Amino acid sequence: MYQDLLLEKKDGVALLQVNRPKALNTLNDAVLDQLLHAFELLALDREVRVVVLTGAGGKAFVAGADIAEMRSFDVEQALAFSRKGQQLVHLIGKIPKPVIAAVNGFALGGGLELAMACDFAFASEKAKVGLPEVTLGIMPGFGGTQSMARLIGRSRANELIFSGRLIGAAEAKNWGLFCDVFPAEGLMAGVMETAAQIAGNARLGVAHAKDAVKSGLDMSLAEGMGYEALHFASLFATKDQKEGMTAFVEKRKPAFVGA
Ligand code: CAA
Repeated sequence: MYQDLLLEKKDGVALLQVNRPKALNTLNDAVLDQLLHAFELLALDREVRVVVLTGAGGKAFVAGADIAEMRSFDVEQALAFSRKGQQLVHLIGKIPKPVIAAVNGFALGGGLELAMACDFAFASEKAKVGLPEVTLGIMPGFGGTQSMARLIGRSRANELIFSGRLIGAAEAKNWGLFCDVFPAEGLMAGVMETAAQIAGNARLGVAHAKDAVKSGLDMSLAEGMGYEALHFASLFATKDQKEGMTAFVEKRKPAFVGA
């Protein structure tokens, strides 16, 4: 269906892989278009509760934007490219279902920005991450200067961005970039276990929680609290709230319907 992506769906979990292993799954304009298209469809697909994003080939998650394509960009093309990458980052944050990054190797530049656009990330021990753009005469352009400072704090983000150095999975986990690190062969099983747990929960509860957390980060605490209360209250109009609480009282497992 896609030239550079692989998509499989099973038991409510969609596994989306960037599939250009010879080029270490780098992002060119066409791959960005395909990812935008795929996430638009996944957002609407009622069968899909959780998306897992990874890179094919075992060596890289995504080794950044495609330098071979970018090197001849003029200012206008660079602006359009940056905006398209940021559109993807924004879309991943907005779709009403969790997106988990399974960082199985290099996640560099735009690749790390893509992983950080996901709701959370797990990594393999082999993962190496960084924002090496300044070593190429540019700077991060898919949201890295904004998301990294919010995620790991200004000083660590600055050190990573200004030095361009790569860090390993353990250090990245210590900094809060990864929730957990697995041996390479156990990464997908670990990620799928969490994905299955999420897929078994109430769809709208998860969707509203994602939006409250994500949108709340751009609000004052008071605005965020108000936003949370509205989301919380709206869930009392769902079948799954009735079912979840009735099942608890009746000491049985809930049978959620996703509505
Ligand atoms: N763009 C284009 N091609 C790339 C690439 C990239 N970002 N990263 C790797 N490749 C290509 C290599 O050119 C090579 O192609 P050939 O086989 O045709 O020569 C192939 O992928 C394999 O890579 P290497 O031979 O270099 O593999 P390695 O194991 O020796 O090194 C690496 C791996 C450390 C990831 C190294 O490839 C590397 O440093 N890549 C560049 C990473 C980078 O700087 N990314 C940031 C890009 S800028 C960006 O992303 C801007 C933004 O914010 C939007």
